[in-house]
Amino acid sequence: MELYVDSANITEITHAASLGIIRGVTTNPSLLAKEDPTVDVKQRILDIYKTVGGHLSVEVNSTDTDGMLREADDILSWFPEATIKIPMIPTGLAAVKELSRREIPTNVTLIFTPTQALAAAAAGATYVSVFLGRLDDMGQDSIQVMRDVTEIWDTNGLESLIIAASIRHPIHLLECAKLGADIATTPYKVLMQSLKHPLTDSGLQAFLNDYEKMKAEKEKHAKGGQ
Ligand code: E4P
Repeated sequence: MELYVDSANITEITHAASLGIIRGVTTNPSLLAKEDPTVDVKQRILDIYKTVGGHLSVEVNSTDTDGMLREADDILSWFPEATIKIPMIPTGLAAVKELSRREIPTNVTLIFTPTQALAAAAAGATYVSVFLGRLDDMGQDSIQVMRDVTEIWDTNGLESLIIAASIRHPIHLLECAKLGADIATTPYKVLMQSLKHPLTDSGLQAFLNDYEKMKAEKEKHAKGGQ
């Protein structure tokens, strides 16, 4: 399972990219709105693309098919490698069908059920983003939804890549990797949490302490021998 970072924050994205663990970035209008409003959206998107260079999903803000297609053309004029993120609504599916005909990659977002995922795949989506955290928030079992989606994909040999989205904690990453999701797009905070373990920190501290002790002993011996 590849990792993407779900963020529009350049500092977070730059740090995650420097660790070599992410292969792409997903953004959405809410993530962009959290950032400095004086920075032009096109400029921010291009800065993100320059930083990571891999997959970058950019979401449209229209709800009608023509508007989505116009926005897609605009985004593609910024950089032709863009993946166009389209909401899982009927007009969105029509836009996905047209973009797929033109071989433009699409990421269908806001998918909460296996049947929505199936419809997005049928329309020609390159990626289907299945949201986990928001389902858990309302008391539904998001991992069961992901289990159903991956089973349907295996049974039917579907080609759209499955993105686990709305990730809230490292257990989501673990479960989605076990189920065979292709990608998990992960908030920076969760990405960092998934790297840490207290035994790693205490183990490293013990190694460093022992190294310093050994160095001090060696220095003492060297001085004594002079
Ligand atoms: C997916 O591409 C979305 O940007 C994202 O994962 C939404 O997650 P949220 O529920 O944390 O807003």
